[in-house]
Amino acid sequence: MKALPAKEGKHNLTNYEEAVEQFDWNSIEKELSWFKTGKINMAYEAIDRHAENGKANQVALYYSDARRDESYTYQEMKEYSNKAANVLKDIGVTKGDRVFIFMPRSPELYFVLLGAIKLGAIVGPLFEAFMEGAVRDRLEDSGAKVLVTTPSLLERVPFSDLPELKKVLLDDKSYNDQDSFLQLNSRLDDASSELDSIEWVDKEDGLILHYTSGSTGKPKGVLHVHEAMVQHYHTAKVVLDLKDDDIYWCTADPGWVTGTSYGVFGPWLAGVTNVVRGGRFSPTDWYETIQRYDVTVWYSAPTAFRMLMSAGDELVKKYDLSSLRHVLSVGEPLNPEVVRWGVQVFDQRIHDTWWMTETGAQMICNYPAMEIRPGSMGKPIPGVQAAIVDDKGNELPPNRMGNLAIKEGWPSMMRAVWNNEAKYKTYFELNGWYISGDSAYMDEDGYFWFQGRIDDVIMTAGERVGPFEVESKLVEHPAVAEAGVIGKPDPVRGEIIKAFIALREGYEVSDDLKEEIRQFVKNGLAAHAAPREMEFRSSLPKTRSGKIMRRVLKAWELDLPTGDLSTMED
Ligand code: WT7
Repeated sequence: MKALPAKEGKHNLTNYEEAVEQFDWNSIEKELSWFKTGKINMAYEAIDRHAENGKANQVALYYSDARRDESYTYQEMKEYSNKAANVLKDIGVTKGDRVFIFMPRSPELYFVLLGAIKLGAIVGPLFEAFMEGAVRDRLEDSGAKVLVTTPSLLERVPFSDLPELKKVLLDDKSYNDQDSFLQLNSRLDDASSELDSIEWVDKEDGLILHYTSGSTGKPKGVLHVHEAMVQHYHTAKVVLDLKDDDIYWCTADPGWVTGTSYGVFGPWLAGVTNVVRGGRFSPTDWYETIQRYDVTVWYSAPTAFRMLMSAGDELVKKYDLSSLRHVLSVGEPLNPEVVRWGVQVFDQRIHDTWWMTETGAQMICNYPAMEIRPGSMGKPIPGVQAAIVDDKGNELPPNRMGNLAIKEGWPSMMRAVWNNEAKYKTYFELNGWYISGDSAYMDEDGYFWFQGRIDDVIMTAGERVGPFEVESKLVEHPAVAEAGVIGKPDPVRGEIIKAFIALREGYEVSDDLKEEIRQFVKNGLAAHAAPREMEFRSSLPKTRSGKIMRRVLKAWELDLPTGDLSTMED
């Protein structure tokens, strides 16, 4: 597909090459308070600063779902987050404590998240679909002291395994306090909307933990610090192209990094009106949301665009989506096909952006003032150096495939893998290059092209699933002796999870058993982690040290050569 020319109009970034050349992180930091005071707080910078500087009455949050329809100004967000901070302070939350939030999207989720940050606590948002095992791993590893959740999610929290968890706040007006289980809502009502003092922190102090999957082991806690705001703010300007009067909608849930970096921090640092729509994906609901709020800037994901695409162009015509002026995507490769569709039905180029939980903010992107080459992730943001390197950390020339790597030292870089310093170090072992785990190449003109994951991490419907986690859950099922899990290409979901299973003696393959195993993973881990396909074998290919060779499974599945089998057991 041919290139789409730069978009005309007044953009925050007008000349990419010039911006790269003249770039200096210091000039961005000067726009934020800590440059003056030496101390900072993300929640102050995102909310209070605007409430105190002429935006008190601007809507900061439009929230709606099937039952609620509300809006909050910057002044109100300041007051509600103060209330939440006071509620948390009352139950003993102080700087550095981990406060986890496990609930569906609602205004209260955002009040609590900001309130906890105002106290200098480290927030940990958990996606509402997580089941007991996933919740346990995260609360246990982080040593969470407070959990904010809803009564219906309580059964997925294994309290007996969590001695460090001291208090639970429940978001439900009809809940009656019981011991350390306290109702959130009446406390918010009663709390003062003034906060004695925000906890002013250093830019290197902890802000947020997002757990993410790798190819081995349990999910790891990626820690980001307050300094990340420098990059959130910068990219909100140059990538999201946000301006004061924008109505912005990021469709991601705060349980994932996109939903905080660009569903909370970026837009509010930039002082725009942020739309949050609760409930599940539905094409009519999404189009209605854009139409109803006159959304101008829309950030979503390839899998969502593909689902909208399959809902048909006729549906799009029923809505007035003419408010849209900038559309972006993240999470998986954005198919040229989808880019073409975007131009056709919305008259909008969809701007692909590449980044990861670990990078904390956008890294390689397309900009309104730059030509789009459909299928390419774009070019590094001003201030970031990206390259393709070999396995020794040597930079490769254009058009050679290799490791997509980033030069160490960008502001939103993760600062730790929680409880796992050894793991953290492994990311930076190659000459100061952060190795992303993705393979890519760069063309002669500096555009980056995604090729695939180097490890076995599965991206399904934009969510990252660690094969090892699914395999571990599978072998807990009494019928399963061995399991190997791979991602199988899928036109809508990007990849689906396919499990190869060897059954224990005495069990036989049947549809009932398949369904039982699927449910077992679904109930133990999360719906999106359950295998959509299963194949049964008498044994699985393993290395001599007993590791399942997913590479071989994948080769079988895709009818590819299996490659070097010298480490395989007989
Ligand atoms: C992995 C990171 C932070 C965004 C949400 C996902 C894949 C991300 C793209 C893109 C191709 C992409 C990569 C990356 N990915 N964006 N534009 N094109 N692949 O965050 O769960 O930490 O996953 O998502 O494989 O490494 P995540």
